[in-house]
Amino acid sequence: MSENERIIVPLDVPDEAAAIALIEALPKVTFWKVGLELFVSSGPVILQALKDRNKRIFLDLKFHDIPNTMAGACRAAGRYGVDLLTVHAAAGSVALKAAQIAATEGAQQAGCAAPRVIAVTLLTSIDGLSLSLELQVPLAVKTYAQQMAQIAQNSGLGGVVCSPQEARLLKDSLTISEPDHFWLVCPGVRPTWATKGDQLRSLTPLQAIQAGADYLVIGRPITQADDPAAAFARICEEISEGMSGEESVG
Ligand code: C5P
Repeated sequence: MSENERIIVPLDVPDEAAAIALIEALPKVTFWKVGLELFVSSGPVILQALKDRNKRIFLDLKFHDIPNTMAGACRAAGRYGVDLLTVHAAAGSVALKAAQIAATEGAQQAGCAAPRVIAVTLLTSIDGLSLSLELQVPLAVKTYAQQMAQIAQNSGLGGVVCSPQEARLLKDSLTISEPDHFWLVCPGVRPTWATKGDQLRSLTPLQAIQAGADYLVIGRPITQADDPAAAFARICEEISEGMSGEESVG
């Protein structure tokens, strides 16, 4: 897989017109993320626009509900023919199993490939203090993320969304039999030359991949750059140079 295929760019824009403008400005991006704001604003029309352009789609709606409702939502999402779909691991194993089965059923009904359902371990907006004091969970953030990833894997899901800071721990602690079996998808990635913004515990794209990330979600360093296409190309180059340096050392 080439570097540009490992980078998922979020369409964090308010409406369809702004999304199409961004897609057109970044022709080399092959994998786009549609989140809650854009999906609630535009509806499925944005998914069709991406499919018309042969793009891969990460539908990041982070479902978290009772098993029957999760299954219904995932079945409907499966019919859109998206590639990746998110749920919250905290919904529990019964809901997670139902989610993957229903997403596959939905895709079969529509004659498309089944989406890979991946679970959010813990929102990066929840830190150790809110986890223990507000949510009253007596675990360190990393231990909690590890437990959520384990539930996701035991429930037959295809991966997790996690912080790149946790990628190494998850790669080492989960049984990942084949490379394609269980994906680690990591937001919270910042090149050295980009402002960190609210992503405080970030790694660079190369560091995140070296830590075990399979896919990187990188937004503002690309979308808010003066020249988004140049920023995307620079990130791809930095990963490729770092990886080839590693190979020649190894
Ligand atoms: O602009 P930036 O690179 O921070 O964008 C990261 C994207 O990943 C956003 O769409 C954000 O909602 C999403 N995300 C995140 N942290 C999570 C889950 C998703 O930043 N834990």
